[in-house]
Amino acid sequence: MIISFLNQKGGVGKTTLSVNVAGCLARQGHRVLLIDADKQGSASTWASLREDAPFQVVSMARANMARDALKLAQDYTHTIIDGPPHAEEIARSCIVASDFVALPIEPSGLSTWASDLTVRQVKEAQEFKPTIKCGFVVSRKIGKTVIGRDIRNMAGEAGLPILESEIEQRVAFAEGMTMGQTIFEWAGDSNAAREIEHLTKEIERYVEEDVFSGSEAKAAHG
Ligand SMILES: Nc1ncnc2c1ncn2[C@@H]1O[C@H](COP(=O)(O)OP(=O)(O)O)[C@@H](O)[C@H]1O
Ligand SMILES: [Mg+2]
Repeated sequence: MIISFLNQKGGVGKTTLSVNVAGCLARQGHRVLLIDADKQGSASTWASLREDAPFQVVSMARANMARDALKLAQDYTHTIIDGPPHAEEIARSCIVASDFVALPIEPSGLSTWASDLTVRQVKEAQEFKPTIKCGFVVSRKIGKTVIGRDIRNMAGEAGLPILESEIEQRVAFAEGMTMGQTIFEWAGDSNAAREIEHLTKEIERYVEEDVFSGSEAKAAHG
């Protein structure tokens, strides 16, 4: 199972979600690989802060990396790809390699979150690999903000589903990343950890059960 976290926008939580979803899967006993596809190497930096990461981290940020990623992924039950911002070619490669593309979006700044470029890239890839699934993930949500109709309408217009799981803006996420720990190590009994567990389960369900391929979502939303 190959899951990538992608959005052309920086700072939406791609690396935070990649590391923690990888940590969640590893905790369940899976063999997990995290591919750092961002030249800035935030996930690799996180891994360098420790000696014994619960999953393997490799850096691979180049166009046409899909084939190599697929090859590497054969040795693991789950591969997570932490995508780059502003790198069209690499992003395209990440999408092609994926079973599921998670598109983190911040509920603030409604006008900019739609991430048209990434959505378009996913759709182009689905044209020749229709099995690629994709969904928006609400990330860095502030407090009790109601994620209202607006955001769901925009997802509908983009023709992609929006996952039920929401990740709030929580200090524990930022702290854990700074300390080189997964949220399960840093704050195992926390709402932050529970959000990641919920998200991980939901993504696994999307991949395993045959819900919401891109074309189904498109049909559902007209
Ligand atoms: N849910 C969250 N709560 C608090 N801080 C977060 C959260 N998600 C990300 N951050 C912080 O926001 C910044 C950008 O997050 P990051 O995961 O690196 O985004 P991206 O990989 O999309 O650029 C980092 O400093 C990170 O610690
Ligand atoms: Mg990042």
